[in-house]
Amino acid sequence: MTAKARIRRDIAAMSAYTPTTSLEVFAERLGREAAALIKLDANENPYGPSPRAREALAQLAQMHIYPDPESGRLRALLADYCGAPAANILCGAGADELIELVFQLFIEPGDVILDAPPTFAMYSFNAPLYHARAVEVPRRDDFSLDIPALEAAARQQRAKLLFLCSPNNPSGNLLPRRDIERLLRLPLTVVLDEAYIEFAEAESLAALAARLPNLIVLRTFSKWAGLAGLRVGYGIFPSALMPHLWKIKQPYNVNVAADIAAQASLEDADFLLRRARQLSGQRQRLEAALGALPYLAPYPSRANFVLSRVIGMSAADLRDRLAARGIIVRYYDKPRLRDHIRISAGSPAQVDRLLAALQAIA
Ligand SMILES: Cc1ncc(COP(=O)(O)O)c(C=O)c1O
Repeated sequence: MTAKARIRRDIAAMSAYTPTTSLEVFAERLGREAAALIKLDANENPYGPSPRAREALAQLAQMHIYPDPESGRLRALLADYCGAPAANILCGAGADELIELVFQLFIEPGDVILDAPPTFAMYSFNAPLYHARAVEVPRRDDFSLDIPALEAAARQQRAKLLFLCSPNNPSGNLLPRRDIERLLRLPLTVVLDEAYIEFAEAESLAALAARLPNLIVLRTFSKWAGLAGLRVGYGIFPSALMPHLWKIKQPYNVNVAADIAAQASLEDADFLLRRARQLSGQRQRLEAALGALPYLAPYPSRANFVLSRVIGMSAADLRDRLAARGIIVRYYDKPRLRDHIRISAGSPAQVDRLLAALQAIA
């Protein structure tokens, strides 16, 4: 038997997920200098890390020593930042790792997870890897959740997990708190992904996760703190789950650079939150300007990106025409989103260039 024939048959048959890639790879593909490109496809922070995080990284001396497996100092700072006890917080290599950890903790073959597409792809991505069945309860036309359908599916399918995202990626809408509270009455665990909450100027449910038995809140340093490349996120979990999470977490999942940069970011949180507000301002500017173009219909967003329907033109073509001008935006080759593009809020100068390109295309 060849090595290839020995790999899991379900993985051999799986289709590949294509994540976004680095600026350098885009530059090579487009035959341009990386410095000339504007990357607005992955909701990254165009300003990068805070000066304090850069300074902490420049001073980093202990690269030959394993990190603190408990991320103790980072969790203490996070407790202050998000108002939940450190004992209920677990850090990971991005929120992505914590999503997978939730699957590892809960899912046995055949278990059901509920997903409300269009939403972040990583929830359903993990399902086949853990032999979970992902049951989709599509959002309504305005991307709000279909609460009665979710309640019915939860009961009929005996779902174990429900993944929610607020503000939702890619639509940008915030979930009303009363909807989340209603869904928390279901006999399942709600995983609420708040990756973009710092842009929403809305209340986080992080503190509530430490008090309830069935709410997990996931957060990240990738967006508001500009650390996407370092991979650091965290979750706030019900107390009863914590001992089991510690058993299954990879011991050194948060590397020393990510750990120290995340700590420095929290010490500079006011500065970073001001920048997040500036990005929300650029998102508002984008919403208004896109809405004024005859071929785009943007949806209201509370995150650092705007999803728009593309009218009278192919969204994939629009993506390509912007790429030819050095501007990278997100296109989804998925049934409900095929005529949409998602554009991240950039710096004012980046948004100027994007809007000029969109006007030239029109
Ligand atoms: C909703 C949502 N959750 C989680 C993530 C991943 O976060 P991280 O970079 O911390 O893995 C993203 C990244 O785009 C996201 O959009």
